[in-house]
Amino acid sequence: MRTNTIYCGDCLDILRRLPDACVDLIYIDPPFGSNRDHAVMGKAHRRFNDRFEDVDAYLEYMKPRLLQLYRVLKPSGSFYYHCDWHASHYVKVLLDGEDLFGYRNFQNEIVWCYKSGGASPGKRFSRKHDIILFYTKTDRYTFHGLREKSYNRGFKAYRFEGVEEYCDEAGWYTLVGMKDYWEIGMVGRTSGERLDYPTQKPLALLERIIAASSNEGDVVLDAFCGCGTTLAAAEKLKRKWIGMDISPVACSLSRLRLEGDYGIKVNLQFK
Ligand SMILES: C[S@@+](CC[C@H](N)C(=O)[O-])C[C@H]1O[C@@H](n2cnc3c(N)ncnc32)[C@H](O)[C@@H]1O
Repeated sequence: MRTNTIYCGDCLDILRRLPDACVDLIYIDPPFGSNRDHAVMGKAHRRFNDRFEDVDAYLEYMKPRLLQLYRVLKPSGSFYYHCDWHASHYVKVLLDGEDLFGYRNFQNEIVWCYKSGGASPGKRFSRKHDIILFYTKTDRYTFHGLREKSYNRGFKAYRFEGVEEYCDEAGWYTLVGMKDYWEIGMVGRTSGERLDYPTQKPLALLERIIAASSNEGDVVLDAFCGCGTTLAAAEKLKRKWIGMDISPVACSLSRLRLEGDYGIKVNLQFK
């Protein structure tokens, strides 16, 4: 199996050619079943279709791909499925199935909260989060607990015995285990990492997942890699990686990104 390679084609066909249990970490950000086309203004060729007749058709499309992803994941591996309100509950039920990860191997529902334009008051609360479902294949899996700052009330020092406290420009805080809701800025119009690929995810989001759920030298797979955010984060954190996307435009963009940012040679294979 070749790593540091981008495969262009339907991931179902490409995954079928991979051996069993060869990947340490999988992140996917597939179509969400949102019944729309995603495009960036002025970049008509950078688009992907997210239209399914209904949620059943969406799940029917995803299921064979998920079975292949499950097969290629190592017993110590982790799986992250990025989705949103359109299908997250149905996807959870699918992944809880005994032919996939199973209810007992569910680890977290991560809520990625972001700010974006268009938050005017309407007929409901603004929808400003995505869901990332985190499963493992067994209960013996790689996990590096990350920590985050938790500011003290009033930003003042507590000076409790045995509690380590730190101070920055905002005030005093302790370090606590990272929670399952993440506030990370989305890739907005003025963001330096923006590649004008629709629904591009922030590098910081993928770095967090990869740092928590893999070790240096591990193999990270993204079967719906878009403009290569997972691959870039994996390369930055010294992991091996495999990318797949059905769109030749996405695959070329990913290759350009990896070669430009990291000065490496990327293999691009067409099905
Ligand atoms: C939401 S985008 C991924 C964005 C990516 N996370 C990023 O940061 O750029 C979904 C991608 O899935 C790809 N895709 C859709 N169906 C596919 C399939 N059957 N096999 C491989 N890729 C597919 C689309 O071309 C699109 O690039």
